[in-house]
Amino acid sequence: MTATAKRLSLDRAAETCELKTMAQNDRITIKRPDDWHVHFRDEAMMRAVVPATAAQFGRAIVMPNLVPPVTDTAAAEAYRDRILTAIPDAADFTPLMAAYLTDETDPEMLRDGAEKGVFSAVKLYPAGATTNSASGVTDIANVMPVLDVMQEIGLPLLIHGEVTDPDIDIFDREAVFIDRILQPLTDKLPALKVVFEHVTTKEAVDFVAAGDASRLGATITAHHLVINRTDIFKGGIRPHLYCLPIAKREAHRQALRKAATSGDPRYFLGTDTAPHARHLKEAACGCAGIYSAPVALEVYATVFEEEDALDKLEAFASLNGPAFYGLPVNETTVTLKRESWQVPQSIDTGSGDALIPFMAGETLGWKLEG
Ligand code: NCD
Ligand code: ZN
Repeated sequence: MTATAKRLSLDRAAETCELKTMAQNDRITIKRPDDWHVHFRDEAMMRAVVPATAAQFGRAIVMPNLVPPVTDTAAAEAYRDRILTAIPDAADFTPLMAAYLTDETDPEMLRDGAEKGVFSAVKLYPAGATTNSASGVTDIANVMPVLDVMQEIGLPLLIHGEVTDPDIDIFDREAVFIDRILQPLTDKLPALKVVFEHVTTKEAVDFVAAGDASRLGATITAHHLVINRTDIFKGGIRPHLYCLPIAKREAHRQALRKAATSGDPRYFLGTDTAPHARHLKEAACGCAGIYSAPVALEVYATVFEEEDALDKLEAFASLNGPAFYGLPVNETTVTLKRESWQVPQSIDTGSGDALIPFMAGETLGWKLEG
């Protein structure tokens, strides 16, 4: 059993002491969750991955880092239409679109796109920070007029919070981003709604915890609750555990687990499921991104159980996100049942590519029903 699997395995001894709890917890039913951060890509890859997210979640914020990026209303509407064609008929799923912020974004275009209901959020990638971020923001000063309008109309800014300064160690880029960019930005625009995306450090958790819950939130991925930076190098280099922001030391993973399972409304589910074909991951210069959609809810449930916080799963997965975005909670529910199942080693995209899902080949103890 690998360290990851061991960490995820259930504590059977503790369970037998609490027979009543175990019986109650053989099934968990929660309001249908939402995923506040997904990458669907486009074309064949999109058609291969959308069903996995649509099977688990009611809504998802779709990241706009296509090539070329989704920078305006017409492109977002067209992309949304393509995603709609990839949703299985039986699914109960709505994609929510985010605009890709560039130095040139027109604030009035955003105002119009938000009024029309096309944009649910705007994504800020510092230029060069991650996959397909070359058209991102080169200097936050360039987008201040846009952020002023977003503050005025209540459109959330989703931030990839890493500095791109090559002199800053990759493991420090999130913490440095807080000091150099995020703190000054939130001081300057106190009413701007901000989501600090896929937080990976104790510094980020502390920053969010000190903020006002109605305007500052954070998403936490399933994989950052499970792996630390040592796991990326266990017995050799593990390209399928490489993502950005990169996983940090164990103490940071512990801080993330505490935050996610706390019930605090500031933290909500965002998988950052980021599919890349196997050959692009297992390469001399492998792409950043972990494909977690097929196992996301089950992995979160396992983590919450390990933290003795299954009663907080619904808040994190289904309630806190809608409250932050000012959207209704989904009306339907999903049920997870206690069942051992093996995550596939590989998933065929149907177009000649393979995807290696997070936890490939490992056994999980919770399974989504239906
Ligand atoms: C994402 C991708 O592949 O688009 N990669 C990742 O490692 N998370 C981009 C991102 O969210 O940083
Ligand atoms: Zn992402």
